[in-house]
Amino acid sequence: MRALDITIVGATGAVGAELIKLLETSQIPVSQLRLLASRTSGGRRLRFRDEICIVEPLDNIVDTKADIAFFSAGGAVSTEYGPLFAAQGTLVIDNSNAFRMNPDVPLLVPQVNPNALASRPHSSIVANPNCSTIQLVRALRPLVTTFAVRQIILTTYQPASGKGLKGIDELLQGARSALRGRASPSAERFPLPLAFNVIPQVGKIASNGITLEEIKLVNESRKIFGLPHLRLTATCVRVPVINGHSAAVYLEFEEPVRLERVHELLATEPGVRLYASGIREAYPTPRLLQDRAVVHVGRVRVNSENPCGLWIWVVADNLQVGAALNALLIAKLAIANNVICGP
Ligand SMILES: NC(=O)c1ccc[n+]([C@@H]2O[C@H](COP(=O)([O-])OP(=O)(O)OC[C@H]3O[C@@H](n4cnc5c(N)ncnc54)[C@H](OP(=O)(O)O)[C@@H]3O)[C@@H](O)[C@H]2O)c1
Repeated sequence: MRALDITIVGATGAVGAELIKLLETSQIPVSQLRLLASRTSGGRRLRFRDEICIVEPLDNIVDTKADIAFFSAGGAVSTEYGPLFAAQGTLVIDNSNAFRMNPDVPLLVPQVNPNALASRPHSSIVANPNCSTIQLVRALRPLVTTFAVRQIILTTYQPASGKGLKGIDELLQGARSALRGRASPSAERFPLPLAFNVIPQVGKIASNGITLEEIKLVNESRKIFGLPHLRLTATCVRVPVINGHSAAVYLEFEEPVRLERVHELLATEPGVRLYASGIREAYPTPRLLQDRAVVHVGRVRVNSENPCGLWIWVVADNLQVGAALNALLIAKLAIANNVICGP
């Protein structure tokens, strides 16, 4: 295949840095890599393969043509610049919330709904789902497609890195202050100080008491599975973990479920690592994840009070599985399906 002209918007952020690392070791041939960020980072030098790339400020950009542009700079930047790149024939792969529910924008997890990118969308934009959604649908895919689901109830435990590099800094500074007996610095990225705390709010709270993150999980899961009536409800919680999302997920099926069958389905699901007696002991935790490219599932158990109920514990790296890796896999699928060339 020919080498591609690739742009990364938000190249200096937490997701952008992961994407550069993954692209570097991927088999994708790159003829030109353009790294864009805010004015603050203009002139920064970042290494890619054997070259040094100079970061350019996005608002200086006139030429928005590339084969692929990955956007990881927040919804406002994607809303303003995504369509400009797409109009020039660039395939935009967007990590923000800007276009996910747009009917002309595929919301894609390549292991779950690859057919959504069978042809190039008219919008020339493909959306990466929210990080908690990606790991959830990857773990649930074999269960949701095998059994009739009555409802899904989950709680997420989301790390500081979900709010980018500044979120990680805020947690570390807050922890240092607390350990020195000083007052916590004021919370900026989180609604309250996160160090040594647990905050039952991720994103703004709507008038019905549900947070934006909880709404995203429901709507995006329904769109990806093509199940508009899937009954799913969530509480999203921010925890003082640096990186790695966890979720306790309860599934209730229409019929009783056999644990052995669930083990079989999860153990053979590509990209899912099952922790179960006789397969792999113990359970995954975000700090000690061994393989950051897969979704880890443990604590799988049938509800002793209800044979139709099943609990699972799902952990994945939100910066990789939940963002950069999914975006890269979308790019690989676009290349394989020959949908890179624009209008
Ligand atoms: N963190 C996660 O786990 C995660 C997971 C899934 C999706 N996402 C999404 O990915 C995006 C990036 O998240 P992140 O965690 O990487 O955030 P981050 O660490 O704060 O990085 C933000 C990036 O965007 C750039 N940027 C900010 N404002 C800009 C502007 N006006 N013009 C051009 N560039 C601008 C920043 O450049 P400077 O360095 O110059 O400021 C930086 O490169 C967000 O949309 C987020 O919702 C994040």
